[in-house]
Amino acid sequence: MATELEGKVGLVTGGTSGIGRETAVLFAKAGAKVVVAGRRVPEGEETIELVRAAGGEALFVKTDVSKASEVETLIQKAAERFGRLDVAFNNAGIEGAWSPIVRQSEEDWDRTIAINLKGVWLCLKYEIRQMLKQGDGGAIVNMASITGLVGAVGAAAYSASKHGVIGLTQTAALENAKSGIRINAVCPGFTETPMTDRLFRIPKIQKNLLSCHPIGRFGRPTEIAEAVVWMCSERASFMTGQSLVVDGGFLAGPNSPS
Ligand SMILES: NC(=O)c1ccc[n+]([C@@H]2O[C@H](COP(=O)([O-])OP(=O)(O)OC[C@H]3O[C@@H](n4cnc5c(N)ncnc54)[C@H](OP(=O)(O)O)[C@@H]3O)[C@@H](O)[C@H]2O)c1
Repeated sequence: MATELEGKVGLVTGGTSGIGRETAVLFAKAGAKVVVAGRRVPEGEETIELVRAAGGEALFVKTDVSKASEVETLIQKAAERFGRLDVAFNNAGIEGAWSPIVRQSEEDWDRTIAINLKGVWLCLKYEIRQMLKQGDGGAIVNMASITGLVGAVGAAAYSASKHGVIGLTQTAALENAKSGIRINAVCPGFTETPMTDRLFRIPKIQKNLLSCHPIGRFGRPTEIAEAVVWMCSERASFMTGQSLVVDGGFLAGPNSPS
């Protein structure tokens, strides 16, 4: 039985499906009490059930991470219910409408940036405030992507938002290093989740993207969640301000999605 997060309180945004849901369950298996955030209530309740089935304790708080008041309430409710916040995974995100810049709408740009980038900033702001109040450190992982490190044809807003998450991660890490709050990012390659199910509706896209992963398959949510749990644990105690790539070899080679 893993105990890396024994006695800790963990938060996962975007915990209603995919990588976030898997991480909520792994947080619980590692011994943490878990707060799950997202907009869809039935899916949030399903995640809570999965956490309970894994022997954990969890709270779902309906939250839109692009809204400051909702994120502030989320952190308040986490602290009210479990007394503190030790670890957080700022994972909520959308893929946006994939199209070339010349055809991209201002509305889609604004929405993607509001959720993927402003949402992470808002979460950091209120999580760090809570951790500073507690005064005994903490660990935060932000969800970036391989497209936070290189461009992605047709995904300008998404890629820009994920590049922004890496800059935010470095800045937040520097600002809080002396307080013992470690802040890192994870950069997954393409991983099998409802998000990629939507992207892979066009078989040509799926085939092209698969060919960019030297390992010969897409990632599994649990493979990303394992990296997140490790970064949140004391085993990663000297790591802050970094972006950990978990991508089946995607960035090791010259391929890029087309
Ligand atoms: N799958 C991949 O290949 C891949 C690769 C690299 C990075 N990522 C990143 O991984 C993260 C999770 O994605 P996924 O692949 O697991 O897809 P997913 O199953 O679609 O999960 C996205 C999650 O984000 C939540 N979310 C979206 N907008 C939100 C908002 N405004 N407020 C709160 N929660 C919101 C969704 O919950 P609600 O709809 O209930 O709000 C859902 O739980 C995303 O940030 C994505 O960019 C994914």
